[in-house]
Amino acid sequence: MVKRDFTSIIDLSRDEVLEIFELARDLKSRLRHGDQPPLLRNKILAMIFEKPSLRTRCTFEVGMYQLGGHAIYLGPSDIGLGTRESIPDVVHNLERWVHLIMARTFLHETVLELAQHAAIPVVNGLSDGEHPCQAMTDFFTLFEQQGTTEGVRLSFIGDGNNICHSLLLLSGLLGAHMRVATPKGYEPRADIVAQAIELARQRNGSIEVGHDPVEAVCDAQAIYTDVWASMGQEGEAETRKTAFLSYQVNAALVANAPSDVLIMHDLPAHRGEEITDEVIDSSRSLVFRQAENRLHIQKAILVFLARASGLTTDSS
Ligand code: CP
Ligand code: NVA
Repeated sequence: MVKRDFTSIIDLSRDEVLEIFELARDLKSRLRHGDQPPLLRNKILAMIFEKPSLRTRCTFEVGMYQLGGHAIYLGPSDIGLGTRESIPDVVHNLERWVHLIMARTFLHETVLELAQHAAIPVVNGLSDGEHPCQAMTDFFTLFEQQGTTEGVRLSFIGDGNNICHSLLLLSGLLGAHMRVATPKGYEPRADIVAQAIELARQRNGSIEVGHDPVEAVCDAQAIYTDVWASMGQEGEAETRKTAFLSYQVNAALVANAPSDVLIMHDLPAHRGEEITDEVIDSSRSLVFRQAENRLHIQKAILVFLARASGLTTDSS
Protein backbone atom coordinates (compact mmCIF):
# COMPACT_ATOMS: atom_id res chain seq x y z
CA MET A 1 0.00 0.00 0.00
CA VAL A 2 1.35 3.45 -0.95
CA LYS A 3 1.37 5.98 1.87
CA ARG A 4 -0.66 9.16 1.39
CA ASP A 5 0.44 12.74 2.14
CA PHE A 6 -1.47 16.00 2.42
CA THR A 7 0.99 18.63 1.23
CA SER A 8 -1.48 20.44 -1.05
CA ILE A 9 -5.23 20.52 -1.66
CA ILE A 10 -4.58 18.72 -4.94
CA ASP A 11 -3.44 15.61 -3.03
CA LEU A 12 -7.16 14.90 -2.48
CA SER A 13 -10.01 14.17 -4.89
CA ARG A 14 -13.40 15.83 -4.44
CA ASP A 15 -14.88 12.59 -3.11
CA GLU A 16 -12.06 12.31 -0.55
CA VAL A 17 -12.66 15.90 0.60
CA LEU A 18 -16.34 15.09 1.15
CA GLU A 19 -15.41 11.85 2.95
CA ILE A 20 -13.17 13.88 5.30
CA PHE A 21 -15.98 16.41 5.91
CA GLU A 22 -18.34 13.55 6.81
CA LEU A 23 -15.78 12.04 9.19
CA ALA A 24 -15.14 15.45 10.78
CA ARG A 25 -18.86 15.99 11.24
CA ASP A 26 -19.21 12.59 12.92
CA LEU A 27 -16.16 13.11 15.19
CA LYS A 28 -17.38 16.58 16.16
CA SER A 29 -20.85 15.38 17.05
CA ARG A 30 -19.55 12.33 18.95
CA LEU A 31 -17.11 14.51 20.90
CA ARG A 32 -20.05 16.65 22.03
CA HIS A 33 -21.74 13.49 23.33
CA GLY A 34 -18.60 12.30 25.13
CA ASP A 35 -18.12 9.42 22.71
CA GLN A 36 -14.73 9.76 21.03
CA PRO A 37 -13.56 6.63 19.22
CA PRO A 38 -9.81 6.05 19.73
CA LEU A 39 -9.14 5.88 15.99
CA LEU A 40 -5.43 6.70 16.41
CA ARG A 41 -4.81 4.67 19.56
CA ASN A 42 -1.07 4.49 20.33
CA LYS A 43 -0.19 6.44 17.19
CA ILE A 44 2.40 9.21 17.47
CA LEU A 45 2.47 12.45 15.45
CA ALA A 46 5.72 14.45 15.13
CA MET A 47 4.99 18.16 14.69
CA ILE A 48 7.83 20.13 13.07
CA PHE A 49 7.52 23.91 13.38
CA GLU A 50 9.84 26.40 11.66
CA LYS A 51 7.39 29.22 12.53
CA PRO A 52 5.15 30.15 15.49
CA SER A 53 1.61 28.80 15.90
CA LEU A 54 -1.33 28.86 18.28
CA ARG A 55 -4.15 27.09 16.41
CA THR A 56 -2.17 24.53 14.41
CA ARG A 57 -0.10 23.36 17.34
CA CYS A 58 -2.99 23.16 19.81
CA THR A 59 -5.47 21.52 17.46
CA PHE A 60 -3.09 18.82 16.22
CA GLU A 61 -1.93 18.09 19.77
CA VAL A 62 -5.42 18.05 21.29
CA GLY A 63 -6.72 16.05 18.31
CA MET A 64 -4.12 13.30 18.70
CA TYR A 65 -4.86 13.11 22.43
CA GLN A 66 -8.62 12.83 21.83
CA LEU A 67 -8.09 10.02 19.31
CA GLY A 68 -5.99 7.99 21.74
CA GLY A 69 -2.59 8.95 20.36
CA HIS A 70 0.14 11.42 21.23
CA ALA A 71 1.91 14.39 19.58
CA ILE A 72 5.53 15.55 19.93
CA TYR A 73 6.34 19.24 19.39
CA LEU A 74 9.62 19.90 17.58
CA GLY A 75 10.30 23.66 17.46
CA PRO A 76 12.85 25.53 15.36
CA SER A 77 15.58 25.31 17.96
CA ASP A 78 14.95 21.61 18.67
CA ILE A 79 15.96 19.90 15.44
CA GLY A 80 17.44 22.51 13.06
CA LEU A 81 15.77 21.00 10.02
CA GLY A 82 18.24 21.12 7.12
CA THR A 83 20.93 22.85 9.20
CA ARG A 84 21.78 20.60 12.15
CA GLU A 85 20.74 17.57 10.13
CA SER A 86 19.61 17.04 6.52
CA ILE A 87 15.90 16.64 5.75
CA PRO A 88 16.27 12.99 4.64
CA ASP A 89 18.21 12.13 7.81
CA VAL A 90 15.61 13.79 10.05
CA VAL A 91 12.86 11.86 8.26
CA HIS A 92 14.66 8.51 8.42
CA ASN A 93 15.01 8.92 12.18
CA LEU A 94 11.44 10.07 12.78
CA GLU A 95 9.86 7.25 10.80
CA ARG A 96 11.49 4.71 13.17
CA TRP A 97 9.55 6.17 16.12
CA VAL A 98 6.42 7.96 14.91
CA HIS A 99 3.52 7.17 12.56
CA LEU A 100 2.72 10.58 11.07
CA ILE A 101 4.51 13.91 10.51
CA MET A 102 3.00 17.41 10.42
CA ALA A 103 5.27 20.23 9.28
CA ARG A 104 5.01 24.03 9.24
CA THR A 105 7.82 25.36 7.07
CA PHE A 106 9.02 28.47 5.30
CA LEU A 107 9.59 26.86 1.89
CA HIS A 108 6.87 24.70 0.36
CA GLU A 109 9.71 22.60 -1.10
CA THR A 110 10.66 21.59 2.46
CA VAL A 111 7.25 19.95 3.01
CA LEU A 112 7.56 18.24 -0.38
CA GLU A 113 11.05 16.99 0.47
CA LEU A 114 9.83 15.63 3.82
CA ALA A 115 7.00 13.82 2.03
CA GLN A 116 9.30 12.52 -0.69
CA HIS A 117 11.70 10.90 1.78
CA ALA A 118 9.24 9.74 4.45
CA ALA A 119 7.72 6.28 4.44
CA ILE A 120 4.93 7.70 6.63
CA PRO A 121 2.25 10.34 5.85
CA VAL A 122 3.27 14.02 5.89
CA VAL A 123 0.76 16.83 6.45
CA ASN A 124 1.40 20.46 5.48
CA GLY A 125 0.64 22.62 8.54
CA LEU A 126 1.41 25.79 6.48
CA SER A 127 4.17 26.62 4.03
CA ASP A 128 4.81 29.71 1.92
CA GLY A 129 2.83 28.02 -0.87
CA GLU A 130 -0.24 26.61 0.87
CA HIS A 131 -2.19 26.12 4.09
CA PRO A 132 -4.39 23.19 3.05
CA CYS A 133 -5.62 22.23 6.55
CA GLN A 134 -6.93 25.79 6.95
CA ALA A 135 -8.79 25.77 3.62
CA MET A 136 -10.33 22.36 4.47
CA THR A 137 -11.50 23.85 7.77
CA ASP A 138 -12.92 26.92 6.06
CA PHE A 139 -14.96 24.97 3.51
CA PHE A 140 -16.08 22.54 6.23
CA THR A 141 -17.30 25.57 8.21
CA LEU A 142 -19.20 26.84 5.15
CA PHE A 143 -20.56 23.31 4.58
CA GLU A 144 -21.93 23.28 8.16
CA GLN A 145 -23.39 26.74 7.63
CA GLN A 146 -24.91 26.27 4.14
CA GLY A 147 -25.37 22.48 3.91
CA THR A 148 -23.30 22.43 0.68
CA THR A 149 -20.15 23.96 -0.74
CA GLU A 150 -21.07 23.60 -4.39
CA GLY A 151 -21.90 27.00 -5.84
CA VAL A 152 -20.93 28.86 -2.65
CA ARG A 153 -19.78 32.44 -3.39
CA LEU A 154 -16.55 33.29 -1.58
CA SER A 155 -14.63 36.58 -1.87
CA PHE A 156 -11.02 36.82 -0.77
CA ILE A 157 -9.72 40.34 -0.19
CA GLY A 158 -6.03 41.08 0.41
CA ASP A 159 -2.82 39.21 -0.28
CA GLY A 160 -2.63 36.42 -2.87
CA ASN A 161 -0.82 34.25 -0.32
CA ASN A 162 -0.72 30.66 0.97
CA ILE A 163 -4.28 30.87 2.35
CA CYS A 164 -5.57 32.32 -0.90
CA HIS A 165 -3.82 29.55 -2.89
CA SER A 166 -5.38 26.72 -0.88
CA LEU A 167 -8.83 28.37 -0.97
CA LEU A 168 -8.55 28.79 -4.76
CA LEU A 169 -7.68 25.12 -5.30
CA LEU A 170 -10.42 23.90 -2.95
CA SER A 171 -12.97 26.27 -4.52
CA GLY A 172 -12.10 24.76 -7.89
CA LEU A 173 -12.31 21.20 -6.60
CA LEU A 174 -15.70 21.76 -4.93
CA GLY A 175 -17.28 23.89 -7.67
CA ALA A 176 -17.50 27.11 -5.65
CA HIS A 177 -17.43 30.63 -7.09
CA MET A 178 -14.38 32.46 -5.75
CA ARG A 179 -13.49 36.07 -6.44
CA VAL A 180 -10.14 37.45 -5.36
CA ALA A 181 -9.20 41.14 -5.09
CA THR A 182 -5.57 42.04 -4.38
CA PRO A 183 -3.45 45.14 -4.89
CA LYS A 184 -1.43 45.07 -8.12
CA GLY A 185 1.74 43.06 -7.62
CA TYR A 186 0.23 40.88 -4.84
CA GLU A 187 -1.85 38.50 -6.97
CA PRO A 188 -1.93 34.75 -6.26
CA ARG A 189 0.52 32.63 -8.28
CA ALA A 190 -0.52 32.34 -11.93
CA ASP A 191 0.01 28.56 -12.06
CA ILE A 192 -2.26 28.03 -9.05
CA VAL A 193 -4.94 30.31 -10.51
CA ALA A 194 -4.78 28.37 -13.79
CA GLN A 195 -5.07 25.06 -11.93
CA ALA A 196 -8.05 26.35 -9.90
CA ILE A 197 -9.79 27.61 -13.07
CA GLU A 198 -9.36 24.22 -14.71
CA LEU A 199 -10.75 22.42 -11.64
CA ALA A 200 -13.67 24.87 -11.39
CA ARG A 201 -14.52 24.37 -15.08
CA GLN A 202 -15.07 20.65 -14.42
CA ARG A 203 -17.61 21.39 -11.67
CA ASN A 204 -19.43 24.48 -12.92
CA GLY A 205 -17.60 26.70 -10.47
CA SER A 206 -15.73 29.89 -11.31
CA ILE A 207 -12.54 31.69 -10.32
CA GLU A 208 -11.97 35.41 -10.87
CA VAL A 209 -8.86 37.33 -9.86
CA GLY A 210 -8.91 41.14 -10.00
CA HIS A 211 -8.08 44.29 -8.10
CA ASP A 212 -11.44 45.81 -7.16
CA PRO A 213 -12.58 44.84 -3.63
CA VAL A 214 -16.06 46.37 -4.03
CA GLU A 215 -16.73 44.38 -7.20
CA ALA A 216 -15.37 41.24 -5.52
CA VAL A 217 -17.77 41.38 -2.57
CA CYS A 218 -20.96 42.53 -4.32
CA ASP A 219 -22.62 39.09 -4.44
CA ALA A 220 -20.55 37.31 -1.78
CA GLN A 221 -21.95 34.78 0.70
CA ALA A 222 -18.67 34.99 2.62
CA ILE A 223 -15.87 37.55 2.69
CA TYR A 224 -12.46 36.19 3.69
CA THR A 225 -9.30 38.09 4.54
CA ASP A 226 -5.85 37.35 5.98
CA VAL A 227 -2.84 39.30 7.22
CA TRP A 228 -1.13 41.61 4.72
CA ALA A 229 2.37 40.39 5.67
CA SER A 230 2.71 36.66 6.31
CA MET A 231 5.22 35.01 8.64
CA GLY A 232 8.65 35.54 7.07
CA GLN A 233 7.57 38.82 5.38
CA GLU A 234 7.85 41.00 8.48
CA GLY A 235 10.47 43.18 6.73
CA GLU A 236 7.87 44.16 4.11
CA ALA A 237 5.16 45.00 6.65
CA GLU A 238 5.38 48.80 6.30
CA THR A 239 5.42 48.82 2.47
CA ARG A 240 2.52 46.40 2.46
CA LYS A 241 0.47 48.57 4.87
CA THR A 242 0.51 51.32 2.24
CA ALA A 243 -0.15 49.01 -0.71
CA PHE A 244 -3.10 47.28 0.99
CA LEU A 245 -4.77 50.37 2.50
CA SER A 246 -7.89 50.22 0.32
CA TYR A 247 -8.21 46.45 0.85
CA GLN A 248 -9.24 46.63 4.50
CA VAL A 249 -12.36 44.59 5.31
CA ASN A 250 -14.30 47.28 7.16
CA ALA A 251 -17.97 48.24 7.53
CA ALA A 252 -17.86 50.40 4.38
CA LEU A 253 -16.62 47.51 2.22
CA VAL A 254 -18.99 44.98 3.81
CA ALA A 255 -21.92 47.34 3.08
CA ASN A 256 -21.45 46.50 -0.62
CA ALA A 257 -22.18 42.81 0.04
CA PRO A 258 -25.57 41.14 0.73
CA SER A 259 -26.75 41.95 4.27
CA ASP A 260 -26.34 38.35 5.49
CA VAL A 261 -22.74 37.99 4.26
CA LEU A 262 -20.46 35.89 6.49
CA ILE A 263 -17.02 37.06 7.61
CA MET A 264 -14.03 34.72 7.66
CA HIS A 265 -10.37 34.97 8.73
CA ASP A 266 -7.88 32.19 9.44
CA LEU A 267 -6.33 34.11 12.40
CA PRO A 268 -4.15 35.54 13.83
CA ALA A 269 -5.79 38.83 12.79
CA HIS A 270 -4.03 42.16 12.74
CA ARG A 271 -7.04 44.13 13.92
CA GLY A 272 -7.13 47.64 12.44
CA GLU A 273 -5.10 46.51 9.41
CA GLU A 274 -6.73 43.91 7.16
CA ILE A 275 -9.95 43.83 9.25
CA THR A 276 -11.65 46.14 11.74
CA ASP A 277 -12.92 45.16 15.20
CA GLU A 278 -16.44 46.06 14.16
CA VAL A 279 -16.38 43.49 11.34
CA ILE A 280 -14.44 40.65 12.97
CA ASP A 281 -16.53 40.89 16.16
CA SER A 282 -19.87 41.14 14.32
CA SER A 283 -22.57 38.49 14.59
CA ARG A 284 -21.78 37.39 11.01
CA SER A 285 -18.21 36.49 11.88
CA LEU A 286 -17.26 32.80 11.73
CA VAL A 287 -13.65 33.24 12.85
CA PHE A 288 -13.80 31.35 16.15
CA ARG A 289 -15.93 28.61 14.64
CA GLN A 290 -13.21 28.26 11.99
CA ALA A 291 -10.62 28.02 14.78
CA GLU A 292 -12.71 25.35 16.54
CA ASN A 293 -13.16 23.37 13.36
CA ARG A 294 -9.39 23.13 12.83
CA LEU A 295 -9.57 20.47 15.56
CA HIS A 296 -12.31 18.38 13.97
CA ILE A 297 -11.15 18.56 10.37
CA GLN A 298 -7.51 17.76 11.20
CA LYS A 299 -8.54 14.74 13.25
CA ALA A 300 -10.47 13.56 10.19
CA ILE A 301 -7.49 14.27 7.89
CA LEU A 302 -5.14 12.28 10.13
CA VAL A 303 -7.54 9.33 10.35
CA PHE A 304 -8.10 9.44 6.58
CA LEU A 305 -4.34 9.42 5.86
CA ALA A 306 -3.66 6.70 8.44
CA ARG A 307 -6.37 4.46 6.94
CA ALA A 308 -5.36 5.20 3.33
CA SER A 309 -1.72 4.44 4.17
CA GLY A 310 -2.51 1.11 5.80
CA LEU A 311 -1.81 2.20 9.39
CA THR A 312 -4.36 0.18 11.31
CA THR A 313 -6.98 2.32 12.98
CA ASP A 314 -9.66 1.26 15.38
CA SER A 315 -12.86 1.06 13.31
CA SER A 316 -15.30 1.94 16.13
N1 CP B 1 -4.61 29.82 11.33
C1 CP B 1 -3.47 29.26 11.80
O1 CP B 1 -2.85 28.40 11.17
O2 CP B 1 -3.09 29.72 13.04
P1 CP B 1 -1.69 29.47 13.75
O3 CP B 1 -0.65 30.20 12.92
O4 CP B 1 -1.82 30.04 15.12
O5 CP B 1 -1.41 28.01 13.77
N1 NVA C 1 -0.75 33.93 5.61
C1 NVA C 1 -0.45 33.75 7.01
C2 NVA C 1 -1.31 32.68 7.60
C3 NVA C 1 -1.13 32.46 9.08
C4 NVA C 1 -1.98 31.33 9.61
C5 NVA C 1 1.02 33.40 7.20
O1 NVA C 1 1.55 32.62 6.41
O2 NVA C 1 1.63 33.94 8.13
